[in-house]
Amino acid sequence: MTSHLAARHLTSFLAAGISTLALVSGAMASEMTIVPQQPDFPAQSKITYVPRDAIEEFRSLPSYSEPEWVTENFVDAGTLPPVEERLPAEPLVFKTGNMPDGIGVYGGTLRHVIGGRPEGWNYQAGQSTGWGGIDIGMFECLTRTAPLYQVEASDMEPLPNLAKSWDWSEDGHTLTMHLIEGAKWSDGVPFTSEDVIFMWEDNIVDPNVTPLNGASRETFGSDTTLKALDDYTVEWTFAEAFPRQYLFNMAYGNFCPGPAHIMKTKHPRYADTTYDEYRNGFPPEMLNWPVMGAWAPVEYRPDDIVVLRRNPYYWKVDEEGHQLPYIDELQYKLSTWADRDIQTIAGSADLSNLEQPENFVVALRRAAEEEAPARLAFGPRLIGYNMRMNLSGNGWGEPDERAQAVRELNRNSEFRKAVTMAIDRQALGDSLVRGPFTAIYPGGLNSGTSFYDRDSTYYYPYDPEGAQEILASLGLEDTDGNGIVNWPAGTLNGDDVNIVLLVSSAYNTDVNLAEGVIGQLQQVGLRVVQNAIENNQYESMRYGGDFDWMILRNSPALASVVQGTTSLAPVGPRTSHNHRAGPDGTLDLLPHEEQLVDIVNQFIATSDDEERTELMKQYQKVATQNVDTVGLTEFPGALIVNKRLDNVASGAPIFMFNWAEDAIIRERMFVPTDEQQDYQLFPQTLPGKPGADGPVSG
Ligand code: GLA
Repeated sequence: MTSHLAARHLTSFLAAGISTLALVSGAMASEMTIVPQQPDFPAQSKITYVPRDAIEEFRSLPSYSEPEWVTENFVDAGTLPPVEERLPAEPLVFKTGNMPDGIGVYGGTLRHVIGGRPEGWNYQAGQSTGWGGIDIGMFECLTRTAPLYQVEASDMEPLPNLAKSWDWSEDGHTLTMHLIEGAKWSDGVPFTSEDVIFMWEDNIVDPNVTPLNGASRETFGSDTTLKALDDYTVEWTFAEAFPRQYLFNMAYGNFCPGPAHIMKTKHPRYADTTYDEYRNGFPPEMLNWPVMGAWAPVEYRPDDIVVLRRNPYYWKVDEEGHQLPYIDELQYKLSTWADRDIQTIAGSADLSNLEQPENFVVALRRAAEEEAPARLAFGPRLIGYNMRMNLSGNGWGEPDERAQAVRELNRNSEFRKAVTMAIDRQALGDSLVRGPFTAIYPGGLNSGTSFYDRDSTYYYPYDPEGAQEILASLGLEDTDGNGIVNWPAGTLNGDDVNIVLLVSSAYNTDVNLAEGVIGQLQQVGLRVVQNAIENNQYESMRYGGDFDWMILRNSPALASVVQGTTSLAPVGPRTSHNHRAGPDGTLDLLPHEEQLVDIVNQFIATSDDEERTELMKQYQKVATQNVDTVGLTEFPGALIVNKRLDNVASGAPIFMFNWAEDAIIRERMFVPTDEQQDYQLFPQTLPGKPGADGPVSG
């Protein structure tokens, strides 16, 4: 151990010692205990587990087919090659046995409602396409993980996707990936390793670009390299041996390449442009954006709708050779997330992740009615919320003097303890919805994950007086009698402490939680000011480190552990949600973060199930004892699906490895012919040339 590390360990040891003493003497604060048992809430969506290879395979079939109108209006007219020429030699085949209602029929519309707004199609450089599964339907990734909710933990490895197979070298440091051969973008241009390398070198690794969801090199290991061997083979090298964990990060949302043939025309390395011009160069008005996904955007009306039509080059089929998707059109009405629940329950939309508890009661009531248009099923308690404190003390987000003083508080474990003790989680949960839905959640892994261990989950019970005592011991007292604690004399003129809480205004739940927290902290004299802003700006502020505290809905890492594992701790300069490197590229880790980093790195490096279980118990202990994040509440979510849709993967949770829009495998869903209504806005059309105005009809 270096002396500098030793010093840090000593500090943490001392800190731990002091708090133990305080607890023993009863001098202040309630004792840290194991978290209370979550109220029982039986999941209604029952999962039938299957072997991983029961879902899909790559093979050629004797013949292929497509909707009749595509053949008649396009192929026969000579504007599109025959379907077998558009498909790879060995397409991805979904196995019938894993399709709840079997082989489907063509036609139909999937009507979504979303609260997001598309910034543009450059997802690879950080633009949001509006969420709600627009990106998931447009972009395909090297591997796929969302459908793994139906696979036993012992059989857990990502499904192949754009990477159709992979082999490890004997020493485990090299991974050779074989890409799907002969697949094409929706404009007919071949998909090759050039697209993969462009994603890696010019988006993930390029420090001037931050892809959506924030992938960086370290997402795949700090010293990882990737190069092309030929058009359809790429080679990874890793510092670790057999880091199978990274295969999960090659799924949504980290390794989903965009069309290099279009994107290079605006990337500064290939064109005379700036990085801003690159990021913003493909606005939502640019229709017919080439995709590898099942649907491509053909219409965009601001604050109204995005429409996507079937990709005629899609490279997935069913076992009878029908080219997928079955459903011709995807609609995205641009509204609010709360409206998504309401419309889906009412039958004017088809799909919703019921994730805002404020809507639970009304949704349950309506779904219970006999003639209800939609099915609703709750899954495990996997939706969690944390308040995250910015733990960078060395300049991430360029804090001013006030913000820097807040960072110093955030970095003080006693302060974090005081904050967590000032929060009445029972009341917070009840303010969203009454009943057995919400549970006291102190932070760390969600109780619905297979890695959760209650005995390793610590909690500082609600104790506002204890919180005040701790604040006072830190020199934070109300010296001017206005009910708000002041900075100690030497700091910021002894003014009132003022902390800004960043929150996305797109979700009622986020705003309600922020308001609850603010009211509760006021009781102990902490003034917290809400900065509730539109979601795209919220995302850019949070990735930019421009916050004191923020309300953040949990990412998949806390719901699955194996997905996005590198985000569980600051294992690299850009992997954590609330602690990234300062301008000099270094991370000023706190002692408990050093422990978390160590645990997560060990987790990534081992495939031994028992060891991994043990490591995650340690993670949970260190994270919750040190209040790495301030957990707020957790609850189950429910999938709401219109009854006319078939092949909805059974038991799919709304959130685990990814959102339900991925888990339910929309490309296999279908609407029986007699239930197909006249919902299509652009019937019998296909995406046109990139940038051209709207779809084409032959
Ligand atoms: C938003 C919604 C989620 C889900 C995702 C998909 O975050 O809140 O329910 O639809 O988009 O990306």
